[in-house]
Amino acid sequence: MGEATTDPVRLPPTVRVPKILQGFAFVTSRARFVRALGKRYGAAFTLNLPIFGPTVVISDPVVVKDLFTTSTDLVGRASNLGTVLGPGSTFSLGGDAHRQRRKLLVPPFHGKRMQRYEQIIEDEVMREIATWPEGEEFPTLRPMMRITLNAILRAVFGAQGPALDELRELLPPAVVLGSRIAVLPPFARRAVGPWSPGARFLDYRRRYDVVIDSLIADARSDPAFEERSDVLSLLLQARYDDGKPISDRHVADELLTLLTAGHETTATTLAWAIERLRRHPRLLARLTEEVDAGGSELRQAAIWEVQRTRPVIDATIRRTKKRIRLGEWVIPEGHSVIVSIGLAHASEANFPDAQTFNPDRFLGNPPDTYTWIPFGGGVRRCVGAAFANMEMNVTLRTLLREFEFGTTHAPGERVHSRGVATAPGRGGRAVVYRRTAGHARTVVADTRQVPA
Ligand code: HEM
Repeated sequence: MGEATTDPVRLPPTVRVPKILQGFAFVTSRARFVRALGKRYGAAFTLNLPIFGPTVVISDPVVVKDLFTTSTDLVGRASNLGTVLGPGSTFSLGGDAHRQRRKLLVPPFHGKRMQRYEQIIEDEVMREIATWPEGEEFPTLRPMMRITLNAILRAVFGAQGPALDELRELLPPAVVLGSRIAVLPPFARRAVGPWSPGARFLDYRRRYDVVIDSLIADARSDPAFEERSDVLSLLLQARYDDGKPISDRHVADELLTLLTAGHETTATTLAWAIERLRRHPRLLARLTEEVDAGGSELRQAAIWEVQRTRPVIDATIRRTKKRIRLGEWVIPEGHSVIVSIGLAHASEANFPDAQTFNPDRFLGNPPDTYTWIPFGGGVRRCVGAAFANMEMNVTLRTLLREFEFGTTHAPGERVHSRGVATAPGRGGRAVVYRRTAGHARTVVADTRQVPA
């Protein structure tokens, strides 16, 4: 655990690249830049960025563990998302208020509850794939985005009928605009004139609040309110230690947060899964055999390995509130510390033969908390991790049951940054054949090693 200290500052080696170039590379291609520096400087180094100043990047599991387990009195999270999601969002809360909210947020997302949502996911996948073309290549990212949007709106928001339709139309552009606004300086976020980004976002927000108020009223007047399993109903029923409920406005902010954090991340990981599996025919055949036999162990290992080799969030950031010791380093107050998920996952020390996509590494050997970190860690670890895992598992299970995937020797798709998440550059293209149509196609026998 990182501790407060009065020892002299000891930062990791400083990157010897002009500050302005560091800033440019960090903004335009952060993941690639950080990975290149990792090769040169190892598991800890210090950037000197315009505006942010000295910024420490870490990926060694001992130091990562120290940071993730440091008290929130000593480190906070650096994120602007709270400014657009609202004061009731987990992203806006710190210290005790965050701790109390997490206590109410964790039970609805507990692994044991996830089974209840499986049918919703399977229904959404079946609905989506009804129109997938056979035998021609197409990008899967948009279809995956539709599946994960509908899944969250139904399982988390408990939406159906006209409210579901309205949110389906309203939220994707609102979230895109909100993510853009979040990175603007405060003066540029203001609503000046009807067409400014701030004003357009406010308009989305007003429409969103109307729909959420109607969903809240519907849930409360439902005679089966207490048996409902959607997260909105569970949050309305939850009580803080002093017996008070979460206010309706905070529930609205939190639902928007869950959608913003959970929709694109899960969809891009699924698109990467398709991109990876098509390039590993023998694995694909084994996964299909496993689905037919009712198993899931290899599928789970494949999901873990997709997240290791193609983490859609490349880093998570904390900011020191006091001078703290992390491993051998002493970091001053007011410094940003970036945990590089990409570097941790590409480390040979953490994962032997790290460049190879090999789900078998996780068979009977689940990932470790501080080397496999696609969901971050500590008290800020992704609250929707079990939901995302269940959703990816059910989606892949259904796809493997329904389709045979055309395999390919084409090079892997490039990593493309979409702002929030990094996605396959060509959208995770697939070719599918319906298994139920009696297609008995031979899977291409591939003996070549395909690098991760
Ligand atoms: C593959 C899918 C997903 C990935 C890779 C992912 C990744 C992450 C990461 C890296 C963080 C930051 C953790 C940290 O700072 O230590 C995070 C936070 C969060 N995620 Fe996820 N996430 C995914 C899906 C979801 C889903 C499905 C939901 C909800 C439905 C969700 C809700 C959240 C929330 C609310 C936070 C903020 C937690 C807090 O600050 O206490 N995420 N996620």
